[in-house]
Amino acid sequence: MTTVYLNGEYLPKPDAHISVDDRGFLLGDGVYEVTPFYGGVPFGIEGHLERLRRGLDWMRIPLDVHALEDVQRELVVRNDLTDADRALVYLQVTRGVAPRTHYFPTVAVTPTVYAYAARWSRPPDEVWTRGFRAITVPDRRWMQVDVKTICLLPNAMAYQAARDAGVDDAILVRDGVAIEGAHQNFWAVFDGTAVTHPRTNLILAGITRGEVLTVAREQGIPVEERAIAVEELSRADELFFTGTTGEVRPCVQVDGHPVGDGAVGPVTRALSDAFLARVRSVREAGRTAVG
Ligand code: PDD
Repeated sequence: MTTVYLNGEYLPKPDAHISVDDRGFLLGDGVYEVTPFYGGVPFGIEGHLERLRRGLDWMRIPLDVHALEDVQRELVVRNDLTDADRALVYLQVTRGVAPRTHYFPTVAVTPTVYAYAARWSRPPDEVWTRGFRAITVPDRRWMQVDVKTICLLPNAMAYQAARDAGVDDAILVRDGVAIEGAHQNFWAVFDGTAVTHPRTNLILAGITRGEVLTVAREQGIPVEERAIAVEELSRADELFFTGTTGEVRPCVQVDGHPVGDGAVGPVTRALSDAFLARVRSVREAGRTAVG
């Protein structure tokens, strides 16, 4: 039986209920995080909590996010995921329950906090090695996507368009710039330099993106944070995505055209290997600390 967390309680999932007046349900008035756990050890949890804190501050929802670290760890334990190779905790905070108004509730309401843990898996090596395919679609999101809001309709529409086209992800294009994927950050490699969009209001600054920038620098792989024009994609040597559940994911075809020679490239492979090595060391250190 799956155990979830709702407003201070750990409950069997069927017993967890949210009001129809919840502002998350009525207005999309909330934010979320997805934090990975490897062998029961969280990876990048400080970054995920800090991003959540920034989002809540921006929305003016008062909540101490640090207490949520224990909730996430507890969910992993209660759902027998401490030995899972890969698990995640989904955490969502909404402004709370109040009669529907476009303005904030005029009396103080308690935010709704919901979380669950689940297993996930990396694609088999032969699938990863073949690479993934994408299409470009217009970025129809709002102008503040650095806040990880639960309003994911444009992302869902984009991802569905990719599935309808029989490919694996969508590259969101705004004003001629390839911004990011529907649920992952986007990178291109030109002459050995790994390029990704700078941190602005137009991207969700992924925790994985930050980790990959770090490992790239450690490996001596040049990186550049700049906008990638969609016209540049045809001359990129490699493309890849990064994200919590995608890790480093090679993209070998865009809109039906092969990227570079159509095979997974050396920079993507090196960054993936270095990222996974970093995950392993955090996992080993975390397990040693627990004893
Ligand atoms: N998605 N860009 C977007 C639009 C995302 O939704 C995500 C994460 C990322 C990568 O961020 P991170 O590396 O912190 O996971 C980039 C999560 C996993 C999701 O919606 O399930």
